[in-house]
Amino acid sequence: MRPHPLAVYESALDGAAVVAVGSAGAVALAVARWSDEPDDVDHLMLARCEAPVLDVGCGPGRLVGALNARGVPALGIDVSPRAVEQTRRRGAMALRRAVEQPVPAEGRWGTVLLADGNIGIGGDPAALLRRCRLLVGPRGLVLVETDADPDADDTEPLTLRSADGHVSRPMPWARVGARAMAVLAPTCGFIVLEQWQLKARTVMALRAVERS
Ligand SMILES: C[S@@+](CC[C@H](N)C(=O)[O-])C[C@H]1O[C@@H](n2cnc3c(N)ncnc32)[C@H](O)[C@@H]1O
Repeated sequence: MRPHPLAVYESALDGAAVVAVGSAGAVALAVARWSDEPDDVDHLMLARCEAPVLDVGCGPGRLVGALNARGVPALGIDVSPRAVEQTRRRGAMALRRAVEQPVPAEGRWGTVLLADGNIGIGGDPAALLRRCRLLVGPRGLVLVETDADPDADDTEPLTLRSADGHVSRPMPWARVGARAMAVLAPTCGFIVLEQWQLKARTVMALRAVERS
């Protein structure tokens, strides 16, 4: 039987070479970057965060780690026990939790981070954005890193393949470029506040609007 995607993902966190195969082709998991210190693009995101910050799908925790190190209240959540362990090893706060499950302080987060394509989590970007709308406060912020291709807009599942031949079962995923996000955000309770691009990465800042 093919392994669960989490098992192959965790082998990548432990150092195995793994590619994600989906609508963008075969893309190597950027575990070295996720485990490193924040880069210039990350710093732009971090500078815009309004506390407290919830980093959804925090991986090894470089963003939540940098926020905590600056004294900013921030929590990472991730379904991967290994990711949570690696985040905690940095001295940062993390919980093993799926974003679809109950999360502490729902409705009171200043910012939700969806970095590194995490808008793809669950394969239903509208459902994930609506979930984020419930997580942030009435005027909260969601910082979404959109796909490098501004025209990307699909919900094709991913399979994870390791260099030693393991191929995971498909996992739900989505790719959302800046154009699709600009259309989707207003239908989920947000206005697009800002969009910036640096080193082929694009981030959009979405501000929650009060429900009438
Ligand atoms: C592309 S990686 C993100 C890496 C991370 N943002 C970083 O900077 O290191 C996606 C992460 O989302 C997590 N994830 C997947 N589904 C999730 C869910 N339903 N709830 C929370 N985290 C999830 C994965 O375990 C993985 O760590």
